[in-house]
Amino acid sequence: MAQSLLELLQRSCPVTLPMHMPGHKRNITLAPYLKTLAADIDITEIKGFDHLHAAGGILQEAMDQCAEVFGAKHSFFLVNGSTVGILSAIRAVTAPGDGIIMARNCHKSVYNALALNNLRPYFIYPQTNMRFQIAASMSVESIEQTILQHQDARVLMITCPTYEGVTSDLKSIISLAHRHGLTVIVDEAHGSHLGFSPYFPSNAVSAGADIVIQSLHKTLPSLTQTALAHVRTPALAHEMQRQLAIFETTSPSFLLLASIDSCVRLIKEHKEELFKNWARSLEAFQKKALGLQHLRVLGYGKDRGKKLENVYGLDPSKVFISTLNTNISGYELAEILRNKHDTEPEMITPQGVLCMTGMGDTVETMERLGDSLLQIDKALQPASVMKMPLMAPQVQSKVPIATAERAPFICLPIEDTEGYVMAETIVVYPPGIPVVVPGELMNRAAINYLLAAREAHNTILRTRSDVDGEVAVLRDA
Ligand SMILES: Cc1ncc(COP(=O)(O)O)c(C=O)c1O
Repeated sequence: MAQSLLELLQRSCPVTLPMHMPGHKRNITLAPYLKTLAADIDITEIKGFDHLHAAGGILQEAMDQCAEVFGAKHSFFLVNGSTVGILSAIRAVTAPGDGIIMARNCHKSVYNALALNNLRPYFIYPQTNMRFQIAASMSVESIEQTILQHQDARVLMITCPTYEGVTSDLKSIISLAHRHGLTVIVDEAHGSHLGFSPYFPSNAVSAGADIVIQSLHKTLPSLTQTALAHVRTPALAHEMQRQLAIFETTSPSFLLLASIDSCVRLIKEHKEELFKNWARSLEAFQKKALGLQHLRVLGYGKDRGKKLENVYGLDPSKVFISTLNTNISGYELAEILRNKHDTEPEMITPQGVLCMTGMGDTVETMERLGDSLLQIDKALQPASVMKMPLMAPQVQSKVPIATAERAPFICLPIEDTEGYVMAETIVVYPPGIPVVVPGELMNRAAINYLLAAREAHNTILRTRSDVDGEVAVLRDA
């Protein structure tokens, strides 16, 4: 191998504009502690430094301060991302075999938690926004309907905001769920910055969620893998602690823990100025976005302030650039950004590109992105044919997910799978929602959808099969 990973990092990081996580964006001026976190202070639990899974000293004090800053009753520092928070939270509030009501667009860690805990999911599909072809807000009415249909469920799990920054009416959803006796977990992985400034939406803690999981690293100045769990009652906190001790490393990095603590302190001491600066940089981008003729940016440019179909609210930190109205795909836009503008996006779909901003962004970085888009936009033409949205059909479950995901399987061409039970999860981007998960019955509509998605060069992710055009189904079902 010609170069080491370290050499690649050192060579490429300084020259690209990071429009992806982590949210510190390598901005050492904003968060000088990030530069200090290196091998000369790298330890795990030794005398005098407290224990993450039985905290009673400096870590407990730091987590108490964090709870105060985020308006929570109890907060936990996490060093394995939101993933470990989600696995632990779901296990903390369910027993094997329980029913759980969940949004179909939940992260894969939620699906893994279903399998680990042998849960029975009752799915609620998010609404869709056709203008951008993305998963939109959860409708309060459809959640109510599902709760009434499945009174055995004890938990509601939703994601807010989504990857693209779409929010839902959390206050109404949580009070509805609480009226029906459900515990509510909110995956707020993309929203650790919410609730600190009127420029950004409020957060799930203030909406009354029982457990909230946030990836600090995605938008705030903290190292990759750092996350938080906020919990509403002492009993839940006790159970969460027990579960974290099962799923999380027993050698937590104190560099990561110190990064979380420093980030919390930074927010506590300077939030007004920090969020004002971030808002200023996003407004600088908005000025540029107003000049776009063909590319559309969710919540920006001429769309700013317009009511968007099925969208309750938007987090302005996400810059989702749609190519639907143009003669290029999201893949082509990403290639131009990468090759001609040294800009690396967060996520790419055939229909657009997601650029993620973070607290480390500045007026300069956001104007640079805006100028790049304006230059690209000038050379574009309107779309010659209307790109039709593909809508995933709904499917029925036949075998528990925990059984199906471990059972023997065979791989078949997609077109030959009607009537077979799935042995793997298949996700299509956009909109990034699982089309089928293990145990679900493949029907003709789902097959046609997958074939159309392949024809449209949409991204199709699978978890078990590895031959193009084939999917894994149960051998014996
Ligand atoms: C909605 C959502 N939830 C949870 C996660 C997991 O977060 P982490 O990477 O911090 O484990 C992600 C990761 O991208 C995500 O998009």
